[in-house]
Amino acid sequence: MLKKLIKIAILSMISGSILFAASYNAQAEKDRKAFVNYFLKKFQNPVKNHAKYFPNVNLDEMKKTYRYPLSFQDFQDGSLAWYKPSREQFKELNEFPAYSLEVDDGEVLWNKPFANGKTYSSCFPETGVRNDYPYFDTKTNEVVTIGQAVNACRVKNGEKPYKYGKGNIAKVIAYMAMKSRGKKIHVTIPSMAAAQAYEHGKKEFYKQRGYLSLSCNECHVVSSGKRLRAESLSPALGQTTEMPVYRVKGGGTLLTLQARLAGCVKGTGAEKPKLQSKTLRDLSYFLTYMSNGMKLYGPDTRK
Ligand code: HEC
Repeated sequence: MLKKLIKIAILSMISGSILFAASYNAQAEKDRKAFVNYFLKKFQNPVKNHAKYFPNVNLDEMKKTYRYPLSFQDFQDGSLAWYKPSREQFKELNEFPAYSLEVDDGEVLWNKPFANGKTYSSCFPETGVRNDYPYFDTKTNEVVTIGQAVNACRVKNGEKPYKYGKGNIAKVIAYMAMKSRGKKIHVTIPSMAAAQAYEHGKKEFYKQRGYLSLSCNECHVVSSGKRLRAESLSPALGQTTEMPVYRVKGGGTLLTLQARLAGCVKGTGAEKPKLQSKTLRDLSYFLTYMSNGMKLYGPDTRK
């Protein structure tokens, strides 16, 4: 009898925790579905939905320059997905993509033994694991980015960590990204603490910043598909798929997702956050979760 009771108690504990585990991402899934639907609807037919989504945009210009309808996977192309002039220009540029040299450098770095004789391969199950990041580490209760994983590997093997944002770290990640092309983003929310990190990232996404009081949401959701001065605003959906990104501007620099996020925060006039700060890591966790199920297409070229 006692044995049976214990068995029932254990079984109910297990099933209880499974039920509970399944619900950590309930809110995030709700958010994600609404997010995806918003963009699919908005870019189904921008000309027809002009009044609803693009009230201040010149209709004739839209007819000439907008590409639609966009499929879920189309959002991998950022602003090039919907803005035809940039798309044509960049498709041409990408016939001989500048990032391919960076990827080649990344490959050399990936294969070059550390002083102890080991390589990056000793830290990762394979090269193409870009889609496993960022993830929530349930031991440290922190979001871990791919940049941190690369540097952790270096430190573990007695090497100095790379500086974050650009340079060698971006090259190594670019090589990993190239090997991960076509793999689907699959960010998970495995615990209560992970759900809190997600909520924090979400809060950062909707937070108004700088002297213009602009949020990520304002520019990359509400105003996505509009022009801002010389820029065409990318939809937030899919924004993390093409990282690291080679920016032609300023002579050409390969930038990591962290660097892009920090740049956008600074662009609002707010203080630039530190790369790999909790703010930027949680923000990348939220933003990448929103693109769950989308295939990776990094690295890519942008203005
Ligand atoms: C004032 C408007 C504005 C705000 C606010 C803003 N951005 Fe941006 N962002 C841009 C512009 C302009 C670009 C370059 C064109 C593009 O790709 O949208 C850009 C580019 C990006 C890119 C690169 C997209 C790509 O395809 O390479 C990411 C990622 C990004 N922003 C994320 C964010 C996040 C996250 C926030 C909030 C912290 C944010 N942005 C806030 C204007 C903004």
